Amino acid sequence: MLPDAFDARTSLPRPLRVLIISAELAPFARAGGLGDVMQGLSHALGEMGVEVVVATPLYGVTRLDSAVAPQRWKRPIWIPIGGDVRQVGVIETVTDGDVRVLLLDCPPLFKRDSIYGTAQEPYPDNDLRFATLGMAALRAADLMFHGPPDIIHAHDWHAALAIAYARLSENEAWREAASVFTFHNIAYQGSFPITRAPMLGLHAPILHEDAVVANGSINYLKTGIVYSDRVTTVSQTYAQEVLEPEHDHGLTEVLAARSDSLVGITNGIDTTLWDPSRDRALAARYDAHDPTGRIACRTALAAELGLDMSHDPPIVGVVSRLTHQKGIDMLLQVVPTLVDDGMRLAIVAVGDQQWQSKLEGLSEQYRKKVAFRCAFGDPIARRVYAGADLFLMPSRFEPCGLGQQYAMRYGSVPVVNPVGGLADTVEPFDETHATGTGFWLEEPTPNGIVAALRRAVAIRKNANLWNQMVRNGMTRNASWDASARSYYALYRELVGADPRPSLPPPVPVGASLARS
Ligand code: GLC
Repeated sequence: MLPDAFDARTSLPRPLRVLIISAELAPFARAGGLGDVMQGLSHALGEMGVEVVVATPLYGVTRLDSAVAPQRWKRPIWIPIGGDVRQVGVIETVTDGDVRVLLLDCPPLFKRDSIYGTAQEPYPDNDLRFATLGMAALRAADLMFHGPPDIIHAHDWHAALAIAYARLSENEAWREAASVFTFHNIAYQGSFPITRAPMLGLHAPILHEDAVVANGSINYLKTGIVYSDRVTTVSQTYAQEVLEPEHDHGLTEVLAARSDSLVGITNGIDTTLWDPSRDRALAARYDAHDPTGRIACRTALAAELGLDMSHDPPIVGVVSRLTHQKGIDMLLQVVPTLVDDGMRLAIVAVGDQQWQSKLEGLSEQYRKKVAFRCAFGDPIARRVYAGADLFLMPSRFEPCGLGQQYAMRYGSVPVVNPVGGLADTVEPFDETHATGTGFWLEEPTPNGIVAALRRAVAIRKNANLWNQMVRNGMTRNASWDASARSYYALYRELVGADPRPSLPPPVPVGASLARS
């Protein structure tokens, strides 16, 4: 497959160079699925022979101990931003998947206790913080590659300005670099007052609705969509949904204008990191051929959460963020009915304080029947995937969703609202042919949740059918290989693409990338 490119100075063949820019990268710093996806994707691309470099901020919460290699070098770069020239330290390190990482160290902006904000609100200077990510990532890559990479791949609104900075650069090589913008959730756009523009290196010629402005505000997500060569999102169904007018996110027209450049590539999961036959967080290890270890995991989960297991009740697991998107309000409404039906609930989630208190109240009211742990991610989440019988995801919309994929891999059966990536990854169970991996809600309502869970519980009474469904889920191919190949094909196509799509006129802005 390789080589993909030729070195400009030596003319020798070399692998494709991809600069990934993201606000999260597991295991260094993650707040949700984005961090996991960056880890899995960069690893898979690296294994395919692509020269990947991930640029991400060094936060106060970054787990530097998760780097396997010692930090290689720290070099200062200077970037013109925030009405000033700021110094950013670039620390190069390597992940355990052998991917090179550039950690961008700018303590006044990034050295904080969280990635995005406090429990109450986002940081007020997030516009400047993530503009800095975009600009510093390009400078750092310039230092490393002595010029631009073949592909700039920016993820979510936080990284989107990088694409505009490159496209509007005074440096021709950077203006020519091909770019891909991936949005993981169009509900989060990064919208800021237009008065902040000069500070962000965005100047008058592009401050209009055909470029970086949406509804009178600077919109980072829109900027990524408008200035990139290709736009992708994280499942095929979601790529269609975002073009539908009823999907109320305010950017339908902008996306429609770029619909021939928009593709959905469904996320995989890192099957090495998510492997029940090797997972040390579990009470027992097992695989699809011999899943008996799941019994011990189920018993251990019930004991850990204090659930009463007399009469062998089904355990319904939920690992989520407490937001409207995830349908938590609908779940709250049906808890009494599910408990009456004899189900047990194992809920692991963080988010909105008001829902957190409600869940605490319900777990108090239904002691031994409803357990709530206010936690994010590992290792309790892994024990839920391994020990629950069913895994509920009643999301109103879901760009891709990783929880249902982890659940299937660990043998709990997903019950989902079939939207976005949930529809693409969970195949509804067919009793006649014993095919499929889970259940779809017939409607995204409290009644729809109850009905789907009841259907699942009824089928669970037939052990043979149930075990087949569990096996179907555990053996489905969820690895990154196919998705990474799709990204690779896209990169290849771009590197050979000519001419480039027409875009708003490139205008030199303050964000010059001319090397210092
Ligand atoms: C966002 C989306 C989620 C997706 C994840 C990774 O968190 O809401 O559906 O799985 O990004 O792409």
